[in-house]
This record gives sequence, structure tokens and C-alpha cells, in this order.
Amino acid sequence: MPVRFCLLMLATFTTVLSKASFYSQDSSTEFSLTCFTCVNVSNNEVCNQYAIDRPCPAGKTFCHTLHAMGQLGESWLVNKKCVDRSECTQDSVGCSRSDGQTTCVSCCDESYCNEPVPRNNATAVLRNTRNAGAKSAASTCLMLLAVGAVGAWVT
Ligand SMILES: *[C@@H]1O[C@H](CO)[C@@H](O)[C@H](O)[C@H]1NC(C)=O
Ligand SMILES: *[C@@H]1O[C@H](CO)[C@@H](O)[C@H](O)[C@H]1NC(C)=O
Repeated sequence: MPVRFCLLMLATFTTVLSKASFYSQDSSTEFSLTCFTCVNVSNNEVCNQYAIDRPCPAGKTFCHTLHAMGQLGESWLVNKKCVDRSECTQDSVGCSRSDGQTTCVSCCDESYCNEPVPRNNATAVLRNTRNAGAKSAASTCLMLLAVGAVGAWVT
């Protein structure tokens, strides 16, 4: 296999890799997220009904959802907003109980991913789908590069 081809391949993969790692950091300028957004509404139907289809401001790369329920699991309050990454950590999601009220918080990072509201610990989670995808793309590229390098060397 000609060396020139190898170099070309290497250059291509390097470009792809640098794009991928740029993405996995904070791609506020490249990616525009849209979240269901509402403030202090009484339930999820009302929230989604009035949600405005507008992209999040630059830098807000997560959809944040807060759902407060009464003792019977009936909705009391729903808040949905675009937030930046710092407001969506493992510590900021989950459910807590006080005075007969359960409040659940979930976060996710794909457009319209916050349509449902969290009701329990199983759904009150942090879903980091987009960034995970970029990371796995990067590792796939690395693997291809390694396979390609070995293949080029052998032939
Ligand atoms: C929503 O409720 C909170 C807590 O009661 C209050 O501080 C806030 O001002 C309310 N926001 C709007 C836009 O109504
Ligand atoms: C969720 O998990 C926390 C801690 O693990 C627990 O204290 C809480 O009661 C759970 N909440 C619900 C609604 O299951």
C-alpha cells in the first residue's frame, strides 16, 4: 500500500477525530438544542401544549425537567427549561420527598427529549446521549485508524 495513501488516511482520521472531540466538549456553536419549556404549570399536558418551539440559547446544551407530585402521584408543578451542562450532573437529578410532596428532576441532551416528566427514580436520570455518541464515534475512528495502520503495514 503506498505511503501517500496512508498519510491521506491518517489526515482524514485526524480531522474526523478533532471534530468528534470538539463535539464532546461543548458544541454550543455547532449544535442547537430545542427543549420543551414551561414555568410553573400544573401538569405535563399543559406544559407540552404551550411549549414554544424555539432553540435553546447558545451554551444551553441540556433540557432540565422538574416535576412535583402529591401523595397520590398527582402532578402539582412542572418546570422545563434549557440549562447549561453545570446544572445537569448526577447530583442534580433524582427524586426527593418532603411534606408529602415528591419532586423529581431529570436531564437529557437531545432535542424534544424532555417531553415526558420523571415520576420516580427510574426516570429521574441524566441522559447524556448526544455526548456519549460523539465519544463512541471518536473511539470507533481510533479503532479504524489502528486497524488501517496494521493493514497498511502488513500489505
Ligand atoms: C415560579 O414559582 C417560583 C416558586 O414559587 C417563583 O419563585 C417564580 O417566580 C415563579 N415563576 C414564574 C414565572 O411564575
Ligand atoms: C429515590 O432514591 C432516593 C435515594 O436513593 C430515596 O431517598 C428516595 O426515597 C427515592 N425516591 C423515590 C420517589 O423513590
